[in-house]
Amino acid sequence: MEMIAAHNVAKSYQVGKVAVPALRNVTFTINEGEIVSFIGPSGSGKTTLLNMIGCLDRPTSGTLTVDGTNVASLDRKAAAGFRGNTIGFIFQEFNLVPIMTVYENIEYPLVMVKNIATSKRKEAVSELIRAVGLEEHRDKLPDQLSGGQKQRVAIARALVSRPRMVLADEPTANLDHKTAYDILALMRTIRDTYKTTFIFSTHDPKIVGEAEIIYTIEDGAIKSREDKRGGRS
Ligand SMILES: Nc1ncnc2c1ncn2[C@@H]1O[C@H](COP(=O)(O)OP(=O)(O)OP(=O)(O)O)[C@@H](O)[C@H]1O
Ligand SMILES: [Mg+2]
Repeated sequence: MEMIAAHNVAKSYQVGKVAVPALRNVTFTINEGEIVSFIGPSGSGKTTLLNMIGCLDRPTSGTLTVDGTNVASLDRKAAAGFRGNTIGFIFQEFNLVPIMTVYENIEYPLVMVKNIATSKRKEAVSELIRAVGLEEHRDKLPDQLSGGQKQRVAIARALVSRPRMVLADEPTANLDHKTAYDILALMRTIRDTYKTTFIFSTHDPKIVGEAEIIYTIEDGAIKSREDKRGGRS
C-alpha cells in the first residue's frame, strides 16, 4: 500500500524579498512498512522534506499525499489532528521531559491526545518499554540514561500511539556507530511487528546502508534512488 506520494513538490522560503528554493520538484513514492533514508549534505533540503511529510510546513507547489490525505491543503488545525493520528516524530536531541521517568515520557503522548482507559494505556506503555529493551530503566530519569537509551525512549514515545509512520530527522547523529546500528535494527524489528513505515534523514553514509531504500538529495533535488532489496534506478 502506498504511504506517501510526492509529485513535483517544491518549497521556497521567502527571505526578505528573495525566494530561496529548498526543494525543487521532488517526486517519489514510499510504501507502507518501508524503511527509507534521505541522505545529502548540509542544506540539501532533508529537514525541509521531512517537515512537509510531517505536515509541519506546506509545499509551495506540487501535490503530497500522506496515507491517502492530500496534506498540502490541510490548514493548521487539520494538520495537527492528522499528525496526532498518523505520525510519530523522533528528534535528534531526543526532546525528553527531564522531570519525567522513562515510563512517564513514553506515556506522555497518550495522556496528551488519546482518550483511552488507564489499563489500556499502561499496557501500551509496557509493551513499548519491552520492545525497546528498557524494562530495567523504566523508573529512571533521562539524565540517568546513556545517549542510546535516551534514543530508545524517544523511539518508544514516537510509537506508543501506534502511528502508521515515524519520521526521524538525523536520529543517530548523537550516537556512536554501534548504538546507531542497534537503533536501526530496533526500527526493523518494530517495522516487522507493527508494519510501521520509517523515514529518516542522515549525514552518515555508514548508517544509511541499514535502510532499505536510499534517496540521495542534493541542492533540493533527488539525485538517485537505491533500493537495497532490488537495485539502482
Ligand atoms: N525557515 C527557513 N527560512 C529560510 N531558509 C531556510 C529555512 N529553513 C531552511 N532554509 C534553507 O533551505 C535549504 C534547505 O535546508 P534544510 O534545513 O532542509 O537542509 P538539511 O538538508 O536538513 O541540512 P542539515 O543537514 O544541515 O540539517 C537551506 O538552504 C536552508 O538555508
Ligand atoms: Mg536538517
